[in-house]
Amino acid sequence: MKSSELVKRRAGPMIARVAVVGTGVIGRSWIQVFAAAGCETRVYDSQPERADWALEWMAEDLKLDCAERQITAKEADARQARVKLCRHLGEAVAKVGYVQESGPENMAIKKALYAELDRAAPADAVLASSTSGLDMTEISDGLPGGGRCIVAHPVNPPHVIPVVEVLPGKRTEPEVVSRTVAFLNSVGKKPVLLNFYVNGFLLNRMQAALVREAINLAESGVADVSAIDTVIRDGLGLRWALMGPFGVANNNADGGVREYFTRFRESYIRHWKELDQTPSMNTELIERLGQATDQMMNGVSRAETRHWRDRMVRKICALKQSDPGHER
Ligand SMILES: NC(=O)c1ccc[n+]([C@@H]2O[C@H](COP(=O)([O-])OP(=O)(O)OC[C@H]3O[C@@H](n4cnc5c(N)ncnc54)[C@H](O)[C@@H]3O)[C@@H](O)[C@H]2O)c1
Repeated sequence: MKSSELVKRRAGPMIARVAVVGTGVIGRSWIQVFAAAGCETRVYDSQPERADWALEWMAEDLKLDCAERQITAKEADARQARVKLCRHLGEAVAKVGYVQESGPENMAIKKALYAELDRAAPADAVLASSTSGLDMTEISDGLPGGGRCIVAHPVNPPHVIPVVEVLPGKRTEPEVVSRTVAFLNSVGKKPVLLNFYVNGFLLNRMQAALVREAINLAESGVADVSAIDTVIRDGLGLRWALMGPFGVANNNADGGVREYFTRFRESYIRHWKELDQTPSMNTELIERLGQATDQMMNGVSRAETRHWRDRMVRKICALKQSDPGHER
C-alpha cells in the first residue's frame, strides 16, 4: 500500500457498528472517536463501574465542548445516543464490523481476551488492538481468526490526536490491513502503516530516545525541567507539528535534505556517540523530577491542563487542515 492511500478520506464511517472493549484511559477516548464519526458504538468493560465511568466522563467532556462552543448541544446528544453500554462481551460485539480492543497491556490478558473475541465477534469483523508494544503475532497465536487480528495503536488521547500506528501480525490478511486503514481514515484518524513488528513501534521508539535525553540533561543539571520542556514546547515542537525529522532536515539547508545530512553528518555522529546513557530511573530521581515538574506547573491542575491541551490540539489540527501545505 502506498502512503498516499493512507490519507484518503471518505464521507461517513465505512463501518456502521463497532465495539470498544476495555474502557480505561484509551478505550473511553476511542468511544468518542467512533461516536463523533457517526458509528453505533457498543461499549464493554469486564469491570462494569469502569464502563459507567467512561460514559460519565464522555458526558462531562461533551458538556465542556458545548460550553466552549466546539460542538452544539444537538451534536453532543447525537454522539451520546450512538453509544450503547453492554454488560456482556457477546452483546457488545454482536453484528459489529470492527472491534477496538483496549484492555490492559499484558500478554496473558490480551491472549485470553482475543480468544474470547475471536469466538464471539462475527467472522468478518476486524479485531484491532490498542496495544502500545505487544506483537499481534503472539497475541493471536493459534486463533482460528488470526487473519483478522491487527494492531491499531493510538496516540493518547485518540479523540484528539489523529495518528494511529497500524501493524499487521505475521498472519494478518492484507485485505484486513487495507480495511483497517480505510476504516480509520473514514472516522477521521490518520493511520500510519508499519511493515513489521518492532519493539515500541515508531512513536514510542522515537519518544523514548528523546525522553531519555531529557532526563539525562535534567539529572546532570545542564538545565532545569522547565528549560528542557520550553525547548520542546516553544522550539522543536512548533516545527514538529508541521513536519517530521526528514521534513525539518529538508528545510534546514538551502540544498535540502542531502545537503543538510552531508553538512551536519559529523556533528550528528559526534552527538550520537555520547547519547547512549540510560538514566537510573531510581525512586530518588523520579521524586526529584516530580518536584521540579510540580514547581513548573505552579498549582495548575492536571484536569485543567488536559482540557486546555485537547482544545489546543484540535485548534492546531483545524489550522493545519485549513492550510495543509505539502499534504494537500
Ligand atoms: N495509556 C496510554 O497512554 C496508552 C496509549 C496508547 C495505547 N495504550 C494501550 O491501550 C490499552 C489500554 O490502556 P489503558 O491505559 O487504557 O489501560 P487501563 O488500565 O486504563 O484500561 C484497561 C481497561 O480494560 C479493562 N479490562 C480488563 N480486562 C478486560 C477484559 N477481559 N475485557 C474487557 N475489559 C477488560 C479494565 O477494567 C480497564 O478498564 C493498552 O494495551 C495500552 O498499551 C495506552
